[in-house]
Amino acid sequence: MGGSRVDGTAAEIFDGTAAEILDGTAAEILDGIRERGTYRRMRILDGAQAPRMEVDGKDVWLFAGSNYLDLARHPEVSEAAARAARDYGCAAGGSRLITGNLSLHEALEAELAGFLGTESALAFNTGYMANVGVIPALTDRPDVVVSDALNHASIVDGCRLSRASVRVFAHGNADALDEVLREVVPAHRRVLVALDGVYSMDGDVAPLDAMIPVARRHGAMVLVDDAHGTGTLGASGRGSAELLGVEADVDVLMGTLGKSFGSFGAFVAGSAALRDLLVNTARSFIFSCALAPPQVEAARAALRLVEREPWRRERLQANAARLRAALGAHGIDCAPSTTHIVPVVIGDNARTMAVCERLLERGFYAQGIRHPSVPADTARLRITPMATHPVEAIDALADAVAEEIAAA
Ligand SMILES: Cc1ncc(COP(=O)(O)O)c(C=O)c1O
Repeated sequence: MGGSRVDGTAAEIFDGTAAEILDGTAAEILDGIRERGTYRRMRILDGAQAPRMEVDGKDVWLFAGSNYLDLARHPEVSEAAARAARDYGCAAGGSRLITGNLSLHEALEAELAGFLGTESALAFNTGYMANVGVIPALTDRPDVVVSDALNHASIVDGCRLSRASVRVFAHGNADALDEVLREVVPAHRRVLVALDGVYSMDGDVAPLDAMIPVARRHGAMVLVDDAHGTGTLGASGRGSAELLGVEADVDVLMGTLGKSFGSFGAFVAGSAALRDLLVNTARSFIFSCALAPPQVEAARAALRLVEREPWRRERLQANAARLRAALGAHGIDCAPSTTHIVPVVIGDNARTMAVCERLLERGFYAQGIRHPSVPADTARLRITPMATHPVEAIDALADAVAEEIAAA
């Protein structure tokens, strides 16, 4: 990450107090980030996550979140969290293996497994922690992880922590996967194929029905990170594997509770043996405080709503299709998206952020995304409609995006 500092020792380069050394280091790294046009700041939002909310002091349409089904402020979800805070307090008070394993956690996991049709599920504190826990639990130095080129950063970091070899194959390409597997299988002990279900910056669904049979043929284990697919895709909301009819062939399914489930946390679902392995070896599970009771109970209430109210995922996908069509009518191609994540690639960092700021001024928040979240020179607006956006807001956003891109 650093710049010129690596050319000498700290003592040679800095001659100051500890605070000066730290601030000098930070300034040097941040200058490099500014030069690359990827400096970021956090916006300040106010109020519950909703289709309209206050962003940096201005009331706008929110098209940038992951609360896709608008469950984060649902009365049943909020009430479940409030009840849990009253009855169980605000903390689990320890890791799951010591004092933190409440009956609530076990109930959430049994309900998730029931919903997904798996033998078991295990909650993690975030999707990031699930991926950096599960990949090292399954692979080590003699093994190889075969990873899609556009997999999420948490899969990349899980691979690094696992110490296994890593081979990256061309995004979404079953033939490329086959070729890599042919090469690596003979030289490694275990092989794990890691895929996102829905790609978080492009909105395409992995062709799991083409890729999983390839992995199977080579005897590889398959992990699908369905952070954005669980709750939003498939006839029952079970995600991209349900959509493509391959649920039975996913060995490790990771899903999040902080996106469509309107709460916080994540889970890994699969066999009972997988759960047992993770409880015993996944470091991000073992060495971390358990999910707090309000989060657990909010997730359970949200799961009931996901099961009971299919209209939410249907409206979400209808809104996304309307947005893609409205942008398409302006000549804006949102390929390869087929889901509720709608990218508008602009390319240049500065131009992308200028369009993002202009849209905010006009009352729409669609975040500009730059490297390293996406490959260099593919900066984009990442637009995420919600199930409860009115169609008028979607049409108005598409018009505004087209006008601001033309003007930028
Ligand atoms: C594909 C994917 N996997 C994992 C994560 C991490 O999930 P969490 O936000 O719960 O840490 C994200 C977050 O955006 C994601 O997009």
